[in-house]
Amino acid sequence: METIDFQLITYLERNIDMKLHYYDGTDRVINIIDQEEPFPDGRLIVSRTDTMGILTHCNQSFIDMSGYTEEELIGKNHYILRHPDMPAAAFKGLWSTVKEGGKWDGYVKNLRKDGSYYWVHAVVIPNVRNGNIVGYTSVRRKPSRKKINQCISLYAEMLAEEG
Ligand SMILES: Cc1cc2nc3c(=O)[nH]c(=O)nc-3n(C[C@H](O)[C@H](O)[C@H](O)COP(=O)(O)O)c2cc1C
Repeated sequence: METIDFQLITYLERNIDMKLHYYDGTDRVINIIDQEEPFPDGRLIVSRTDTMGILTHCNQSFIDMSGYTEEELIGKNHYILRHPDMPAAAFKGLWSTVKEGGKWDGYVKNLRKDGSYYWVHAVVIPNVRNGNIVGYTSVRRKPSRKKINQCISLYAEMLAEEG
């Protein structure tokens, strides 16, 4: 009986409606589910954006993992995948690096349409034409469980510091 109560409480605590705020002033309410979708072996998740982070291309693995249709993704800001467990500092580092023409890599917990999540090891590079940045490309691989576990603690500390 105690076990059932504990599981029920855990379930209720981990299925929460959360209001997500974005830097552009918009917000949306999402049901967060504490359930991981494992990154499929041997696949790469690829997307391209314009200079503002608006999605211009997603491969089939991106579509499958996000849970959205291609039509729902193209033209949307990449933050459609932003999970509230991710610290803002991670994305500030991403943007400052790639805007300067650099290559960024890091571990990201992404939010699926159904509120569950998946971890990726992402590389983001600027697409340069005639010396100008015209957009960005991101390629994501399966991260190791060890790295994921390190990031869970690190990001929780960073989030607590961000307040
Ligand atoms: C090419 C590229 C790929 C990105 N991939 C992701 C991603 O997979 N998940 C994510 O949350 N943000 C990603 N971002 C960062 C988002 O643009 C955004 O900064 C982030 O979701 C945080 O949202 P916020 O800036 O509104 O806080 C990516 C940005 C670029 C340029």
